[in-house]
Amino acid sequence: MKKFEDPEKLRSWARKARLAGRKIALVPTMGALHAGHLSLIAAAKRKGADEIAVSVFVNPTQFGPKEDYAKYPRDHAADAKKCAAAGATAIFFPTPENMYASDHSVWVVEDGALSGSLCGARRPGHFRGVCTVVAKLFNLVQPDFAVFGQKDFQQAAIVRRMARDLSFGVEIVVAPIVREESGLALSSRNAYLSAEEKTRALALSATLKELKAGVAAKGALPWKAARARAAAALERAGLAVDYVEAVDAADLTPVKTLRKGNAVLLAAFAGKTRLIDNCVV
Ligand code: PAF
Repeated sequence: MKKFEDPEKLRSWARKARLAGRKIALVPTMGALHAGHLSLIAAAKRKGADEIAVSVFVNPTQFGPKEDYAKYPRDHAADAKKCAAAGATAIFFPTPENMYASDHSVWVVEDGALSGSLCGARRPGHFRGVCTVVAKLFNLVQPDFAVFGQKDFQQAAIVRRMARDLSFGVEIVVAPIVREESGLALSSRNAYLSAEEKTRALALSATLKELKAGVAAKGALPWKAARARAAAALERAGLAVDYVEAVDAADLTPVKTLRKGNAVLLAAFAGKTRLIDNCVV
């Protein structure tokens, strides 16, 4: 597996691979890799990638001033080992300095309804940072496809829109959420949780499961009442609810009745740690 820090070296590796007719997959990550990330590499393999480039970059521009940029877990040696074992053929560890010029001033912004709600409403500037760094990675690697996790449901919808609207010619593949046996969705931020907070966090997946079962049993659920019950269940478990929303899975517009095919998205704090989870019911 090749290792790059310099974006231009990554670009020239990808160019050579492209010219040799190799199918390139990109797996963008912020590192602290877990089985959820490795499932993205596995999805790239299944889709027939000849080269799989994993980027590991804690992107400063997608963190708010009071968020966890400084303490976000970083372990390049462990990440490189896991990527090599999973079958990645290149890993990219850029630095903030070689990704952003000191006078960087051009941004990629989803300027419609996709980023105005959910995490976008609570984390101003977050998706501007995500879109900008993903656009830069797409330009460097020019992959045939890029794999993202469904765990970041809103991010996947926005990146898909960005790829379409800016004609990147990159197919966006979304891989399912990987969960612990307990139901907890894997996340690098789970490392912040105490044992007690981790137990509380199980209410997220349990609530989603219940809503899914409700729709399967009844066909549809009036969302106002279902939402109130879901939020109360999360609060009872000791979580501080940030949002509980039901949306059209394609365009993220809120729905009044939860039906099969809609997405439910949750965000809640376990102590100081903000966790998100979702499912398509
Ligand atoms: O999902 C993430 O880990 C990040 O938002 C991403 C896509 C790697 C961009 O920094």
